[in-house]
Amino acid sequence: MNILDIIQKKQKKQELTKEEIEYFITGYTNGNIADYQASALLMAIFLNGMSDREITDLTLAMAYSGEVIDLSSLGTVVDKHSTGGVGDKVTLILMPIVAMLGIPVAKMSGRGLGFTGGTVDKLESIPGYKTQISVEEFISNVKKIGISLIGQSLNLAPADKKIYALRDATSCVQSIPLIASSIMSKKIASGANKIVLDVTCGDGAFMKTRQEAEELSDKMIQIGKLANKETVCVITDMNEPLGYSVGNNLEVIEAIEALKGNIREDVKKVVLALGAEMLRLAGKGENIQKNKELIEQTIQSGMALEKFKQLVQNQGGDISYIENTSKFEKSEYIVPIVLPEMQKQENARKVISLSAEAIGKASCSAGAGRQKKEDSIDMTAGIVLNKKVGDYVKSGDILAYLHTNKKEKIDEIQQQILKAYELG
Ligand code: URA
Repeated sequence: MNILDIIQKKQKKQELTKEEIEYFITGYTNGNIADYQASALLMAIFLNGMSDREITDLTLAMAYSGEVIDLSSLGTVVDKHSTGGVGDKVTLILMPIVAMLGIPVAKMSGRGLGFTGGTVDKLESIPGYKTQISVEEFISNVKKIGISLIGQSLNLAPADKKIYALRDATSCVQSIPLIASSIMSKKIASGANKIVLDVTCGDGAFMKTRQEAEELSDKMIQIGKLANKETVCVITDMNEPLGYSVGNNLEVIEAIEALKGNIREDVKKVVLALGAEMLRLAGKGENIQKNKELIEQTIQSGMALEKFKQLVQNQGGDISYIENTSKFEKSEYIVPIVLPEMQKQENARKVISLSAEAIGKASCSAGAGRQKKEDSIDMTAGIVLNKKVGDYVKSGDILAYLHTNKKEKIDEIQQQILKAYELG
């Protein structure tokens, strides 16, 4: 077998066999297939797609490219994953809540991808927090405090770790076979027996339409069935950024505020919808409305924030930052983005849309995202939104604050942010 033949086959829109897919995954994971060859194949998959059988074979090959954990000794472990969004800090808020409600949380998250943020980068913005721990430590943390959130440690779905970074740097993210296999391989490897997936849909998601979101959901549910893991997909709106902050430590600060009870309505809606399904799957209650009430009570009682602190401390993070968020480092430049004078004297106008993709890209330009896979990111960079859809604005109002250390980029990013707002 030979990688060039496999690339050519996909270029000609032919179906790859299970053996060819396994050959690619094994060869790329152990370094026998080069990045440029893997990029060519990923681009061919991106352009020409895969059959359901190929997607399943790809997912399983990726899941078994390293260790596959067995968490059955912990009882029903319900995992959660999002297909990606802008300002999506739901994991940071929801997972301590469900852990507090007695569901073991053993979650492997990803880094920022394309214009979307990643939980691992956000967690690493907390000084000292270790996302790369051994499998033994991961399981022992869950046993000890009921929760562990990690990145892709060396041995869990290592093929996804490499492919994920390569897709990010080659614009091969927005592809149903590649997203489904990436997410489900991580979920299979990290051992949960039930899975709730947040399938984001809209301008700031990889699935732009409801139809695409449903198609991706169907593929992941099918893979879950084959892997014997009950999988539920919740389709959520990602047309404007979720909450008010976009960027790594900015989102951590918002998540801490949310856990203190100061949670934005749009974020709360997603947290409750996903959390209620997680409780249902864990056998904690069939009544979705009651489950939502329980989640709200857990936030209001302050117990979820306590669990978050425990998580941070247990993984080496400095909890003084959680107790006092003003300790988080800030960008050198915090620039108010002001709505310029309009040509005619006008009354206040309503924000009718706010492009999450444009804000995500602006945040990456400010330093919060990667251009090349080895790039480091600026944990302080991002955007804090002052006006969102439905708000009224007039000339001179501050729409948002740009946080960046890149002085030379400020004018360009300012224009990007202004263009993201559509006023009616
Ligand atoms: N999240 C993942 O883990 N993988 C993707 O491809 C997209 C979102």
